[in-house]
Amino acid sequence: MMIHLSVVFFALCSSLVASSPLQRILQAANETDPSPDVPPGWRDPKRLRLLQLSLVFRPADVVTDAVERGDNILPYTEMEELVSCDSCQEDAAALFEWTHDAELAPNETRSIFEDNLCVVPFITCVRLSEALADGGPRKGYLIVLTGFPGDREISVVPWILQQRVGRPIVFSDAFYRLRHVMCLWSYQAPMQATLSDELSKVTFLRALFLLGAGPLAGPLPSTIGELPYLKGLYIQQQMYAINGPIPPSITSLPHLEALTLTSTSFSGPIPEDIGNLRRLRVLEIWDNKKMNGTFPASVTSCRNLTRLKLDGTGLSGLLPDDLGALSRLDELTLANNELSGELPRSLVQLRRLQVLLLTNNRFSGPLPDGLGTKMGNLRQLDVSFNRFSGPVPASLGNAANLTFLSLERQWPGFSGPMPPELGQLSKLQQLTLAYNQLSGMLPDTLSGWRPHSPKLSPSSYSPTWRPT
Ligand SMILES: *[C@@H]1O[C@H](CO)[C@@H](O)[C@H](O)[C@H]1NC(C)=O
Ligand SMILES: *[C@@H]1O[C@H](CO)[C@@H](O)[C@H](O)[C@H]1NC(C)=O
Ligand SMILES: *[C@@H]1O[C@H](CO)[C@@H](O)[C@H](O)[C@H]1NC(C)=O
Ligand SMILES: *[C@@H]1O[C@H](CO)[C@@H](O)[C@H](O)[C@H]1NC(C)=O
Ligand SMILES: *[C@@H]1O[C@H](CO)[C@@H](O)[C@H](O)[C@H]1NC(C)=O
Repeated sequence: MMIHLSVVFFALCSSLVASSPLQRILQAANETDPSPDVPPGWRDPKRLRLLQLSLVFRPADVVTDAVERGDNILPYTEMEELVSCDSCQEDAAALFEWTHDAELAPNETRSIFEDNLCVVPFITCVRLSEALADGGPRKGYLIVLTGFPGDREISVVPWILQQRVGRPIVFSDAFYRLRHVMCLWSYQAPMQATLSDELSKVTFLRALFLLGAGPLAGPLPSTIGELPYLKGLYIQQQMYAINGPIPPSITSLPHLEALTLTSTSFSGPIPEDIGNLRRLRVLEIWDNKKMNGTFPASVTSCRNLTRLKLDGTGLSGLLPDDLGALSRLDELTLANNELSGELPRSLVQLRRLQVLLLTNNRFSGPLPDGLGTKMGNLRQLDVSFNRFSGPVPASLGNAANLTFLSLERQWPGFSGPMPPELGQLSKLQQLTLAYNQLSGMLPDTLSGWRPHSPKLSPSSYSPTWRPT
């Protein structure tokens, strides 16, 4: 049955006589079919596959070679797909209006929404597990829009967008009448709107994920801070029409666990009280060229942080002494800012760290003694383009998983010999040392590396070293 309908669907879509969005939507609505391949609680393999592609819907602990780790915001393992949903149905009129204004649903599909909005191809009705609901509402629906051509097998939206090349999705005010929407997830489906203060009315919203949403413009309304259950906020990738400050009200979102704001035109600082977000696990505010301000010291109160990425966000000032209190961090990246001063000694406590990138700042003084000793998981360490001095710590030789180490381009520069302990780094693939004051020879174990003369003459250019 599934296969048969898919064949019809593709025949329809690829025929020279372009089929209308209406036909596509009717066809896809009819494709929903129980399948033995999907986990319990899930009916439609296409809807599930689409969710599995996004870190918003993936659980954190499914890590295999093929599956990336998720952010565990609305994990599909903690929800079941509903075939119909009486409470969601109350939104039928507003939801039809919103999708109609967006030119995703022609007039003729109105009756599909009115009969059962759960069969609309880009709507997934769900019931959350009690744990995931966390005291909030359990039933609602997700709006999942992908414009990515590679997703054509699992969504009708790329087909619809393909027909109207260049015309964005108009995001109308009908959205603010949706009472049961738990997530708006949009990937490369450009939206045209300025979000209004009425956003606070969409109280069931748990995740807002706008990636590559193009012309979405203007400031983020401060009423976003009133959404009682918001757990994940992602505004990413070419969101340069989003501007104004990051509203400080964001720091009063009681459930926020992931905040990702990248490649935007936000200006000003990261809200000073970011540390109020005690549940935060992911904080990524990077590539925001109009932002400035000092490093938000309160962030060290967010003890559950696993990812802290604040690159290219105009940060200045010192790192807080207690940065090492973020003991769950596995990624800390602060590249391309104007951060200065010495690195806090507490940094050496970050045992779970896999990636530490501090390149292109104004850090000075020595690297903390003991750096690397407790960092068995560290794979990448890049402190290049700074103002470090002093010896290269022998303790780095304990970071046994290190594959990439860059110490290049310091002023005045690291000095003295390379500690022989670095020769223990058996997984090292790349070592960059240019523009330092190092002297002597590379450790014996690296002496086979290119360039062939391992002599480190003071203050001279020595290129990147790789195993031969
Ligand atoms: C979808 O199913 C309904 C009833 O099951 C049927 O009336 C309709 O013609 C079908 N539409 C398509 C496009 O197959
Ligand atoms: C859809 O319906 C609206 C109002 O019911 C009407 O104004 C509009 O012309 C209709 N559009 C089409 C393409 O039929
Ligand atoms: C931090 O994480 C632990 C375990 O993952 C959890 O039990 C705890 O509630 C979290 N703390 C906060 C403030 O969310
Ligand atoms: C950030 O930029 C604004 C506007 O250019 C400026 O007024 C403010 O002083 C800057 N703040 C810092 C900390 O550099
Ligand atoms: C190096 O990483 C592997 C996994 O990639 C891990 O199993 C191992 O324990 C790590 N080594 C150390 C010394 O922690």
